[in-house]
Amino acid sequence: MAYELRSARYLAADILRRAVAPGDTVVDATMGNGHDTLFLCELVGEGGRVYAFDVQEQAVENTRKRLTEAGMMERAALFCLGHERMAEQVKEPVAAVVFNLGWLPGGDHSVTTHWETTRQAVDSALKLLRPQGVLVICAYPGHAEGDRERQALMDMLAGLPPQEYNVLWHKFLNAGPGAPECFAVQRQ
Ligand SMILES: C[S@@+](CC[C@H](N)C(=O)[O-])C[C@H]1O[C@@H](n2cnc3c(N)ncnc32)[C@H](O)[C@@H]1O
Repeated sequence: MAYELRSARYLAADILRRAVAPGDTVVDATMGNGHDTLFLCELVGEGGRVYAFDVQEQAVENTRKRLTEAGMMERAALFCLGHERMAEQVKEPVAAVVFNLGWLPGGDHSVTTHWETTRQAVDSALKLLRPQGVLVICAYPGHAEGDRERQALMDMLAGLPPQEYNVLWHKFLNAGPGAPECFAVQRQ
């Protein structure tokens, strides 16, 4: 397939494809409808492990159904739990942590990610990354809370020590002010 610079999510998937290998342990911090969880299950293979979190039971059910249909449920551990509590469940260094911020597509738009909990979760994720591990975050500044969250996230990531983390910000410059953006952090 031709290489296309297409969207924040496309870039996120591209980074994950390069950073995650069979047998790895990874985290999906925002399970939603399970598209990213399934993608991660494919990347880690039979010997790998995917921890996935969401605050909505509906998201967990949708993801469980998707993984079961794909025959990959045994690779995953699904938690109806806020990602700010991921360190209670994930006790080993991980190759990647993925956040797709915002609300559940097709679900209740009032249940969106909020910076207060996202900040705690990003902090936990940075500590869980193994050397060379990546944190990939898609942010949606096209609505008020998303814009606030993206700005605060940018401030936090820009302040990370360069001796410990490389931090990248992908933004499609001609796509308008509300277009999704992708942040990627690699632990040295
Ligand atoms: C854009 S959706 C994720 C889409 C998902 N990655 C997919 O592939 O379908 C964002 C999700 O974050 C969830 N969320 C909101 N606050 C959360 C929190 N504190 N911890 C974990 N998930 C949260 C929402 O319930 C929603 O399902």
